[in-house]
Amino acid sequence: MNDNDRSPVDYDLLGRQLESLMEGCTHALPVLANAAALLWQELPGLNWAGFYLRKDRCLLLGPFQGKPACTVIAFGRGVCGTAAARTETQRVPDVHAFPGHIACDSASNSEIVVPLVAEDGHLLGVMDLDSPLTDRFSGDDQRGLESFARILASADWSGLAL
Ligand code: SME
Repeated sequence: MNDNDRSPVDYDLLGRQLESLMEGCTHALPVLANAAALLWQELPGLNWAGFYLRKDRCLLLGPFQGKPACTVIAFGRGVCGTAAARTETQRVPDVHAFPGHIACDSASNSEIVVPLVAEDGHLLGVMDLDSPLTDRFSGDDQRGLESFARILASADWSGLAL
């Protein structure tokens, strides 16, 4: 992986890789752990990739790759908490210009946070990708990651009692 690499990602392939990792076991915990590893392996220019899981009106740190990160984020705080509160993807080209951004790793310059939403509309958690590159995430990345998030939401979350 090259930190300056912005080459496009084949999100159809990434989705198929995720679905094949889900064959045999769809429990959300191993699925999210493998998804974090897959994102880390396949997306260039990241310094953090992982998940926060919803507990009431907070987000708890879930499976991830990268440096240790903050463990609890309240709804409405930072990029993750904003995505959770609005149930809406936050694509942030420059995190330093985002009011209330939580700097877990000072190397981060851009970020995308995609909500994971169950079929009935309730929020399961968020997927958070950080990059040391400014404006790392394009509209194509957003669409690809939102489709990846829909596959994750189809996992079996019933055994994940938080
Ligand atoms: N930057 C995030 C916090 C999580 S870490 O980046 C892993 C935010 O502002 O929500």
